[in-house]
Amino acid sequence: MIIAIDGPSASGKGTLAKKLADHYGLNYLDTGLLYRKVAYKVLVAGEDPANVEAAEKAALDLDASPIDEALLRTAAIAEAASIVAAEPRVRAAILSFQRDFAKSPNGAILDGRDIGSFVCPDADIKLFVSASVAVRAKRRFLELEASGYAGTLEEVSREIAARDERDRNRKTAPLRQAEDAHLLDTSKLDIETAFRAAVEWIDSR
Ligand code: DC
Repeated sequence: MIIAIDGPSASGKGTLAKKLADHYGLNYLDTGLLYRKVAYKVLVAGEDPANVEAAEKAALDLDASPIDEALLRTAAIAEAASIVAAEPRVRAAILSFQRDFAKSPNGAILDGRDIGSFVCPDADIKLFVSASVAVRAKRRFLELEASGYAGTLEEVSREIAARDERDRNRKTAPLRQAEDAHLLDTSKLDIETAFRAAVEWIDSR
């Protein structure tokens, strides 16, 4: 079984995907982390994330070596990740890794922006997880604050809106709900309720 979960940042799709992976015994890939790793490598190399050659090189060199996730979850890396993710050559460089992962013998769940629409168009289950900008900004702000972030909710809200704009309007594989994806709006749902709603829908398929 392949489950594709897409949605904008801080929609709750990552937490939901992890819980579904545990529940159904599937291998889980957070594809956003791949773009974050590429962005991190570009910045550590002292390059500009908008430099196509540098970003493509980092994507082609991507390996399984772990990078401390806390280093990848900062606002600066999120911003740089959405810049490298807009580059078709970066997306092409990590496409086969994602598709190979989806073929894991025990089944897989991938989350991202273009999984149902592009990476795994034949996924058995497609969910599009969303929430209002205000709710997503609040969630992300609380997460960042817990790790020592000193900015304001307004700043986080502006960053989320800017990333949405970039992710939705880029030419290659923009964020969009696949026609056959089931919409799960988590604006008014806590994670447990969202999880139960997703399981109910998946089991009904
Ligand atoms: O989900 P996230 O915030 O960790 O993703 C980081 C960036 O990567 C985000 O700006 C969108 C981009 N991304 C993408 O373009 N395609 C994916 N499948 C996953 C993430």
